[in-house]
Order: sequence, then C-alpha cells, then structure tokens
Amino acid sequence: MEKVVSGIRPTGNLHLGNYYGALRNFVKMQHEHQCYFFIADYHSLTTYPNPKDLHGNIRQILSEYLAAGMDPDTATLYIQSDIPEIPELYLLMNMNAYVGELERTTSFKEKIRSQPNNVNAGLLTYPILMATDIIIHHASKVPVGKDQEQHLEMTRRFARRFNNMYGVEYFPEPDAYNFGEELLKVPGLDGSGKMGKTEGNAIFLSDEPKVIQKKVMKAVTDAGPTEPNQEMDEPIKNIFTLMKIVSTEDTYNYFLDQYNTCKIRYGDMKKQLAKDIIAFTDPLREKIKEIYADEEYLKKVAEKGRDKARASASQTLKEVRDIIGIKSF
Ligand code: TRP
Repeated sequence: MEKVVSGIRPTGNLHLGNYYGALRNFVKMQHEHQCYFFIADYHSLTTYPNPKDLHGNIRQILSEYLAAGMDPDTATLYIQSDIPEIPELYLLMNMNAYVGELERTTSFKEKIRSQPNNVNAGLLTYPILMATDIIIHHASKVPVGKDQEQHLEMTRRFARRFNNMYGVEYFPEPDAYNFGEELLKVPGLDGSGKMGKTEGNAIFLSDEPKVIQKKVMKAVTDAGPTEPNQEMDEPIKNIFTLMKIVSTEDTYNYFLDQYNTCKIRYGDMKKQLAKDIIAFTDPLREKIKEIYADEEYLKKVAEKGRDKARASASQTLKEVRDIIGIKSF
C-alpha cells in the first residue's frame, strides 16, 4: 500500500473549505492507502500561539478529524510533538539544506514581509521540518494544496540530496496527491476568492446555527440580473457554488432558473443556503462537542497514533543513523 502523509497546523477551527477541500478526501483515502495524518503543532510555534490555547486548539482539531470520520484504527492519527524522532531527523536534515535555498522559499519571503519583527530561524527551516514529517514515514504521496507545492519540491530535493550524499536509495521522492475531480474549491462569503482561515469569510464546522445564519445573510451580492441568462459576477457565482456543494440539485436548479429569468431574490436564496449548511453542520457540530468532552477517548486515540507513528519513525532513525555512521558505544 502506498504511504500517505499530511499535516495540519492547529491554528484555528476547521471550516467548510477544509472539510470539502481536504478532510472529506482524507476520510476516503484512509481505506485505500496507509495514511499518516498529524497535527503540526511544532510548525505552529513559528507564530507563537498562546501557551494557554495550544493544547485546546489541538484537542479541537483532533475532535473535528474524528467527528468527520477519521478512523484511528485504520489511519495513524497523531500529534507531531508526541514523536521525538521528528526533531531528531529534523536536526540531521538541517545538515544538508542550504541557507540560500531556504531564503529563496516563497513562504519565507512572505513571512519576512508579513512579520518583519519576528523572522525566526524556525520560519527559515520550516521546509526542512515539513520534509522530515514526510520522509520519516517514507511517504510517496502527500495530499496538500497548491500553496504547499514548493515545500514538496524541496522535500524531494532534500530526499534526493541525502540519497546522493550517502550513495543510497533510501528516501523516496514524494509527489503531491491530486484529488482531481474530487477536489472541491469552496468559495468564501466575502465575494472573492476561496474560503480561508484568516480571511474572515469562513463558516466553521463548529459554528452555531445562529452564527451561520448571520454570516450567510451578510454574504456579498449585487443589484441582481437585468437581462435573462446574464453572466454572474464573482460574488453571485460564489453563492451558487456554495449551494451546489451543500444543497440538493433541485434547490440549486430552482435558484439558477430564478436567476436566469431575473426573478431571483437573493434574500430567499441565502435563507435556503443557510438552512442547508446548518442541516449539514448540525450533526457534525454535535459530534465534535461530544468527542471534545471525552478526554479519555481522545487520550486513547492520541496514544494509539503516537505508538504507531513512533514505530515507523524509530525504524527510520535507526537506519538513518546507520547510513550516516552514527554508532553507539
Ligand atoms: N505546511 C503545511 C501547511 O501549512 C502543514 C504541514 C506540516 C504538512 N508538515 C506537513 C503538510 C507534512 C503535509 C505534509 O498546510
């Protein structure tokens, strides 16, 4: 079975974009591949989360993964900081990554711009840590969004460089896992672009119905079509796309027809959209709450994941130390 690794930073609750763009596919993949899914808490330290919040954020995301159908008996679900082999391999991988290539990384250059007062070394070596996450399990496929493609390219380069340096064929060079047709791009509610954590345009899986209602009713629209079959502006297209994802085909077609015949009332459409989103998130939200409250279950899940992930990681470290020539007395 092909090995798959993916991580998510615990920097906010999951939203509909995360669900339809990633989580839903992870749930499907777990049965077809050997999957390692983890919460990348070390990566989140580059922006200094409040120590009081960090564990709660991890617990929330873990609960959301489980509520969405991730099965801890099938996939390996773990917390990055539970695996001491990761920082160990990260240190070793630091020796064959060059400062110049790290400085040229797009995500690093962006951080220099967005947080000029905190250009810490963790940001510079972020791609090394991510490469470590992946190669420590010898993964060949990594399901990630477009924004992570450069990091994946660097992972391949680091893996290849290690192999060349020691004259071995040890680490595979992983590729992005492309969901193709199944990858749904979920638009945001603010009229442009996709749903994102920070853009303030998102509906979270844990949002209460009232909150969802309010957010959807506030979504950007326009003055309405004046000619039959008029081309849609982006904000309107986005609302239709959301409806296509969460509503029935009949509902979608009804409002499309209303639009094309210039009879549409966006207020009615949004009311329906909010209702359909709530119908989808309601059971999920309840489940998330239930799991979040079950400390004992979460502990069991995390321990099981940790043990499985460590078994794979420690085997790698043993072999890597051997390749490098590190020997214990
Ligand atoms: N850098 C990824 C992100 O910001 C998160 C991540 C960390 C990751 N390690 C990973 C993703 C390993 C895939 C594989 O989304």
